[in-house]
Amino acid sequence: MSQPLDVLGGISAEQFLAEYWQKKPLLVRNALPEIADILEPSDIMELALDENVNARLIKQKDKDPNQWSVKSSPLIKADFQKMPKLWSVLIQAVDHYSFDLAALWKKFPFIPQWRRDDIMVSYAPQGGSVGKHFDFYDVFLVQGYGHRRWQLGQMCNADTEFVAGQPLRLLPEMDIHFDEVLAPGDLLYVPPGLAHYGVAEDDCLTYSFGFRMPNVTDMMDRVSDKFLENSALKNPLLDIIRDQQSAIGQVTENELEYLKTKLFEHLQNSNILEDAIMSLMSEPKYLDNIPEAEEIGTGDLEAVLEQGYQLLMEPASRLLYTEQDGQLLFWANGEAICTSDASASYLKRLADGELILLDENLADNDILEDIAHLLNESIVMLAPTDDAE
Ligand code: SIN
Ligand code: CO
Repeated sequence: MSQPLDVLGGISAEQFLAEYWQKKPLLVRNALPEIADILEPSDIMELALDENVNARLIKQKDKDPNQWSVKSSPLIKADFQKMPKLWSVLIQAVDHYSFDLAALWKKFPFIPQWRRDDIMVSYAPQGGSVGKHFDFYDVFLVQGYGHRRWQLGQMCNADTEFVAGQPLRLLPEMDIHFDEVLAPGDLLYVPPGLAHYGVAEDDCLTYSFGFRMPNVTDMMDRVSDKFLENSALKNPLLDIIRDQQSAIGQVTENELEYLKTKLFEHLQNSNILEDAIMSLMSEPKYLDNIPEAEEIGTGDLEAVLEQGYQLLMEPASRLLYTEQDGQLLFWANGEAICTSDASASYLKRLADGELILLDENLADNDILEDIAHLLNESIVMLAPTDDAE
């Protein structure tokens, strides 16, 4: 991991993680030149009208560009008529629609899969932007087409005030300490909280490789869901604390301590915490983006062994594992999955982003059954060798 990486402009992942990640911005010229050939503005305009995508159309009034409007998907042709001069369209999770784009996550092997959110693409004509703002997450902004001028400002936090009365969380001002124009292939890492403002210099596509991190509320929520699934926990606890009398209105320290201890016991002496957290982290961003699979059986798989097919992760799905007492445990799309020991090493490789050749090594009934299950649930997909690479 300590070798210099082109995507980081020749610094190592180690140095990036120690000095930049979550701390300060990094500009890398020509970090991802291959991104320039993936999509053009017309592809984005077409995608924006697809009823399944998650898109936002952001406009600024011609008479007063400080007045913004946002329309969320589904977007229709009429939304793009009588356009003002300044506008942007943003489409989430374009990596679920383009395998070439999804494959670019591999350029960031130093950040684990569970931290990935999605790749958003924005299109804007000259002057278009989404305003001065900050995000709570890390993002690699990569220029795909045309040019965008990026200005970076101060660090913000949950107390930062926004411009009143607008549909976006816009910053009233920015203390600019960075001002650069990005060309196709250039990358700008922006840490959480850093004010940024990107304005299209010409017809421009910008990709945001966004990352996510669970919050305590969501983790608690999943823990409580897991407790609710266990009906035995709905029975009242035993009252073993009636050892002394107290004032009628009081809950004694002892009593509270007993009740808290019972709660902590259940949190600590079960695998609920691990299950809840892993379930949350493996939840897909857009469930609807996961395609319906064509039912496949072990016989079908046997028939295509050595026929030039590979297995790979379905881009809209999530497959994660953890290791406990030397055993690999897997979660996919929000749920724990049970697989045979024989399949564990293959599943691990798939979750690590590897492509697995469907060859004689997989000719084992347990393995084929597990693969069929993963395919039927659209956790992994099958692709001809040539297409998948
Ligand atoms: C954009 O691409 O216009 C906005 C991306 C961002 O600011 O996070
Ligand atoms: Co942003």
